[in-house]
Amino acid sequence: MKKKIRVGALISGGGTNLQAIIDASRTGAIDADMVFVGADNPAAKGLERARRHGISEFVVDYAAVIRASRQDGGKVRPPGDFQLEDVRAKQAIFPPSADRKTVDAYLTSRAVAEALLLKAMPPGSFDLLVLAGFMRNLTPYFIDRVNTDRARPRIMNIHPALLPAFPGTDGYGDTFRYGCKVAGCTVHFVDYGEDSGPIIGQRAFAVHEDDTLEAVRQRGLEQEWQLYPECIQLFAQGRLKTERMRYERPGGRAYERTIVKIRSESGSSRSEAGSS
Ligand code: GAR
Repeated sequence: MKKKIRVGALISGGGTNLQAIIDASRTGAIDADMVFVGADNPAAKGLERARRHGISEFVVDYAAVIRASRQDGGKVRPPGDFQLEDVRAKQAIFPPSADRKTVDAYLTSRAVAEALLLKAMPPGSFDLLVLAGFMRNLTPYFIDRVNTDRARPRIMNIHPALLPAFPGTDGYGDTFRYGCKVAGCTVHFVDYGEDSGPIIGQRAFAVHEDDTLEAVRQRGLEQEWQLYPECIQLFAQGRLKTERMRYERPGGRAYERTIVKIRSESGSSRSEAGSS
C-alpha cells in the first residue's frame, strides 16, 4: 500500500476547498489523509464538513484573542518562546516604514493565537498544513515552528488570483474590478510575506464580456478544487523542490528569489525534462 501523508487544514469559511481535498483523499486520488481541521472562528461552516467525515476539529478564536489583547492595552502576555525582535526582523507583511507600535501589537497578538494553534496541532502530528480559505496571515513565530527544515517548507496556501497580482483578501474581486481579461488561482508555499511565497501551481481562465463577479468567483473555485489536490499530490510524491535563484537584471542589479521546481516522476525537474 502507498504511504500517505498526514494533512492538516486551517479554514475560516465555507470550506469548499477543504471538501475537495477530503474527497480526493477519500477516493484515493491523492496519497493523503486529512488528520485535523482548525478554524479561526467558531462560525466557520467548513467545520461541519470535518464533523461529517469524522475528522478532528478545533477552533482558535482569533477575534477573541485580538479583542483581549486590545483591552489589555497591548500588554497581553506573549508565549514564553516568542522573541519579538526576531519575529519583527523576519516579517514581511508590513513595510519597514510601518509604525513600530502597530507592528509589535499585531505580531504579539497573532503569536498568542498561533501558540494556541500549535498546541492544538503539534507540528509533529502532520506532514503538510494546507490553508484552505484561512483569512489570517501567519507570522514567522508560527512558520518557523512548522518549517523546522528551511529547505522543506510544508505550509501551502491557495489564493484566488494569479499571483503576484492581487494579493490580499479579495483576489477575484480585485481581478474583476481591474478589468483583467484573464483571472486565475495560485497555490504557493507560505513565506513571511502576504501571498508572496514560492509558487507551486496556477490555473488561468478567460473573463468574458458579460461575466459578473459571482460567475468569475464560481469558475475560479471550480479551478481551485482541481488545482489544490494536484499540488498536494506533488508534495505527497516528494516532487516539490525549492531552489534559491539569482539573476542579473538589465543594468546589473541582482534579483534573488526562492522558486519551486517540480521533479518529474522519474526524479528530474520539469524544466530539466523539457516539459512545462
Ligand atoms: C477561496 O476562493 C480561496 O482561494 C480564498 O478564499 C476562498 C475560500 O473558499 N482564499 C483567500 O482569499 C486567502 N487569501 P472555501 O472556504 O469555499 O474553500
